[in-house]
Amino acid sequence: MYFELSEEHLMIQQAARDFANTELKPGVIERDELQKFPHEQIKKLGELGFLGMMVDPKYNGSGMDTISYVLAMEELSKIDASASVVVSVNNSLVCFGLEKYGTEFQKEKYLKPLAAGEIIGAFCLSEPEAGSDATSQHTTAVDMGDHYLLNGTKNWITNGGNASTYLVIAQTNSALRHKGINALIVEKGMEGFSVGPKENKLGIRGSDTHSLMFTDVKIPKENRIGEEGFGFTFAMKTLDGGRIGIASQALGIASGAYELALAYSKERKTFGKPIAAHQAIQFKLADMATEIEAARMLCFKAAWLKDQGLPYAKASSMAKLFASDVAMRTTVEAVQIHGGYGFVKEYHVERLMRDAKITQIYEGTSEIQRMIIAREILK
Ligand code: CAA
Repeated sequence: MYFELSEEHLMIQQAARDFANTELKPGVIERDELQKFPHEQIKKLGELGFLGMMVDPKYNGSGMDTISYVLAMEELSKIDASASVVVSVNNSLVCFGLEKYGTEFQKEKYLKPLAAGEIIGAFCLSEPEAGSDATSQHTTAVDMGDHYLLNGTKNWITNGGNASTYLVIAQTNSALRHKGINALIVEKGMEGFSVGPKENKLGIRGSDTHSLMFTDVKIPKENRIGEEGFGFTFAMKTLDGGRIGIASQALGIASGAYELALAYSKERKTFGKPIAAHQAIQFKLADMATEIEAARMLCFKAAWLKDQGLPYAKASSMAKLFASDVAMRTTVEAVQIHGGYGFVKEYHVERLMRDAKITQIYEGTSEIQRMIIAREILK
């Protein structure tokens, strides 16, 4: 076992860090305040290969490993978690799902433009009454012979308004419960498909989150991912990897807040010395640094297992559970270290604190991660 990153890893980390500082940082406060989607920045990230990082180059991807993805997600999330969630969903839910389980036709038609960043994708599992309890799908995909007829509503869909390709989970045979669920590729513009208004959120306000409505949308059979009834397993397996992305996002939010707090504590003086010279602040910084390092190791472990082709469901849930709690604790302390300045937008930490909260909720709440970890250690 060794703990060194390769030259290539360090280059990817530096490229993501440079991009975050030069392209994401300017305007991040305004985008948060006005809920503006980072269109230009996402386009550039696509051109640089960050939207199909782990996809085979033959499908327009960058052919990188999952460690590289963790490194990039951390750097981007230090500065702008609204942009990094777009990167995470496109990479680890949409591109991964299509590359691993899609047909050649689906890869040519949908994966290639997604991996190139020409379009972005969305992953549509949650419903008004099926968030954590994902087997209780109410959206239906009735088998009509050569196509499915899709009806229902999806909630909380990241990239809901800006995506062009949607992976939609729907119930075809309710008697079979989770074994009667399908995953279908839906295109924006298909007749009967509409996008609801944008949600006004606490955090990651630059990302767009919408409800989606399907009324008698005809989905050709060739757009089903995997065998009939594979949809629930598809969603679960895809989310196993998605959670590495969100864990790394949480890690980045935490390390971004920590770096700001560390710098501020060296500049700000009270009682005649920098606040970093006070033990009360030193202890906070020491706890933050320790927890962030532990979260980073859990992210690397999950990514490494995935790259080795070993089981990683437990590791990715552990990484997400721990890193999201660290993001919450670290950002709250970063605001505290900044005092009154931490409470105003110019200092960035209040935004990171608001952004941190969603990492304990999406792609499975912390309670769901505990269920998955417990299931894995007890089986
Ligand atoms: N891999 C493969 N198969 C899996 C699996 C996995 N990781 N997890 C479950 N399964 C299989 C089980 O083996 C079981 O199959 P069999 O009956 O054939 O053995 C089947 O799926 C059902 O499993 P459970 O009995 O464990 O199902 P459950 O109803 O108890 O719930 C759950 C399982 C893990 C809690 C699941 O419902 C879950 O993950 N819920 C959270 C959903 C979630 O993460 N939603 C996030 C939405 S996406 C999002 O947020 C993206 C975004 O926009 C940012």
